[in-house]
Amino acid sequence: MGPGNQKGKDSSSTIMINNVLERTVHRGGKRHRLFAIIVAVGILTGIGWATTTTSVDPRDTKIDLPLRPELVVGSQACAKCHAAEVNVWKQTPHHETFLTLHRKPQAQQIADKLGISSFKHDSACIKCHYSMQEQPGGLEPIAGVSCESCHGAAKSWIDHHHDYGGPGVKRDQESAEHRYQRLVTSITAGMRNPENVYLVAQSCYRCHTVPDEKLVNVGGHVAGSLNFELVAWSQGKVRHNFVRTDGKQNEPSSTERMRLMFVSGMIADLEFSLRATAEATVKETYGVTSASRAARAAKRLAAAQEKLSQPVLDEVLNAFKSVQLKLNNRDQLLAAADKVAEMGLRFAATVRGADLAAMDAFMPKPDQWK
Ligand code: HEC
Ligand code: HEC
Ligand code: HEC
Ligand code: HEC
Repeated sequence: MGPGNQKGKDSSSTIMINNVLERTVHRGGKRHRLFAIIVAVGILTGIGWATTTTSVDPRDTKIDLPLRPELVVGSQACAKCHAAEVNVWKQTPHHETFLTLHRKPQAQQIADKLGISSFKHDSACIKCHYSMQEQPGGLEPIAGVSCESCHGAAKSWIDHHHDYGGPGVKRDQESAEHRYQRLVTSITAGMRNPENVYLVAQSCYRCHTVPDEKLVNVGGHVAGSLNFELVAWSQGKVRHNFVRTDGKQNEPSSTERMRLMFVSGMIADLEFSLRATAEATVKETYGVTSASRAARAAKRLAAAQEKLSQPVLDEVLNAFKSVQLKLNNRDQLLAAADKVAEMGLRFAATVRGADLAAMDAFMPKPDQWK
C-alpha cells in the first residue's frame, strides 16, 4: 500500500510519493513540449518514473503533516526571494492568528474547557494555529499558519527548488530534464510543491477539517470549515501567484488550473473527511459532522463524475464505497483515505484542465472568492 499513516491520536498523515509528477506544466515554450514527450514515452512504456535519471526514488519519500519542527526554517528564509509572497501572507488570517488567537474570548473559552494554560505551547492548538520550530531551548512557536504549513517544512528542500542547474544557469536556460528532476528532488525532500496541486490541497484540508474529537466535543471548537472549497478559498486573500509572472503580478490561476483545483479539492475533502471520521469514537458533534462531511464530499464527487467520466475518479469513489462511515472503524477508514490520496495525486498529475470544462458552471465566480 502506497501511503502510510501514523499511529497516535491526531489524524496526521504521511503520504508516500508516487505518480506525483507524470506530466509537465505549461510554463514557457519548447522545452516543455520536449519534456511532455519524455513523460509520454514513460507512460507508454509503462515505466513512468524510470525514464528520467533521478538519483532519488520517489517511492521512498514521505511528506509529513503536520510540520516536523526540526525541519522548519521560518518565513524569513523565504523572504529574500519571495518578498511579495511574504507581504501578501502578512495580510491574511493565517499570519494574524499568531497575534490575535490568544486574545479572543472564544479561544479562551475553548482553552478553559480543555484546561489549557498556554495557547502557543499547548499541542491542542499548535497543530493548526502555529508553526513550531525546534530551537536549542526546545519547541518555539515562530509564526501562525506559515509558508511551510502549506508547502512543507523547508530545511531539506529550500536549496534545491530554485536551482536551475548550478551557479550562473538562469531560468530560461534550464533544460526540461533538469526542471523535471528539480521538481522531483524538491518533492522528494518534502516540498508540497503546487506543481501537483493535490499536495497543497492536502495541506488545506488537513487543518480545515479540524480532525480533533476532543477539541470539538469537549472544547466546543468549530467542527471544520464546512464550506471550504479550494478555488474560492485559495484565489482570494491568500493568493500569492507571483512566480508565474516573474514577480510582476499576483495572477489568479487560469481557468484550466482552477478546474483541476476544483476537482482536486473535492477529492482532498473526501480524503480528510475520511481521516477525520477515522478518529471518531463517540456519536457526538465531531463524529456526526465528520461522517456527514465525508458522505457529502463523495456525493459531490459522484455528481461531478457523471459529467466528467474520469477513470481515476471511479477509483476514488470505489475506495469510498469500500468502507462504512461508522465509529471506531479507524484502520479501514484510514486505508480508504490512503487510497483516495494516491488517486488524488494521480488525478492532479495526469488529468488536464482542458478535459474538465464541464465543471465551469459549478465553479465559484470571482465575487465568491474569500
Ligand atoms: C534563493 C532564493 C529562494 C529562496 C530562499 C526561496 N525560494 Fe522559492 N522559489 C525561488 C525561485 C527562483 C522559484 C521559481 C522556480 C521556478 O522557476 O520553477 C521559486 C519557486 C517556489 C515555489 C513554486 C514551486 C516551484 O518549485 O517552482 C514555491 C511554492 C516556493 N518557491 C516556496 C518557497 C518557500 C516556502 C521558501 C522558504 C521556505 C522559499 N521558496 C525560499 C527562489 C527561492
Ligand atoms: C485541527 C486543526 C485545528 C486545531 C487543532 C485548532 N484549531 Fe482553531 N481553527 C481551525 C480552523 C481551520 C479554523 C478556521 C475555521 C473557519 O474560519 O472556517 C479555526 C478557527 C478557530 C477560532 C475562530 C477564529 C475566529 O476568528 O473566528 C478559534 C477561536 C479557534 N480556532 C481556537 C482554537 C483553540 C483555542 C485551539 C486549541 C485549543 C484550536 N483552535 C485548535 C483549526 C484548528
Ligand atoms: C496549519 C493549518 C492550516 C492550513 C495548512 C491551512 N489553513 Fe487556512 N486557516 C487556518 C486557521 C487556523 C484559520 C483561522 C485563523 C483565525 O481566524 O485565527 C484559517 C483561515 C483561512 C481563511 C480565512 C477564512 C475567513 O473566513 O476569512 C482562508 C481563506 C483559508 N484559511 C484558506 C486556506 C487554504 C486555501 C489553504 C490551503 C492552500 C489553507 N487555508 C491551509 C489553518 C490552516
Ligand atoms: C494557506 C496555504 C499557503 C500558504 C500559507 C502559503 N502558500 Fe504558497 N501556495 C499555496 C497554494 C495553494 C499555491 C498554488 C496557488 C494557485 O495555483 O493558484 C501556492 C503557490 C505558491 C507559489 C507559486 C506561485 C506561482 O505563481 O505559481 C510560491 C512561489 C509560493 N506559493 C510561495 C509561498 C511563500 C514564500 C509563502 C509564505 C510567505 C507561501 N507560499 C505561503 C498555498 C500556500
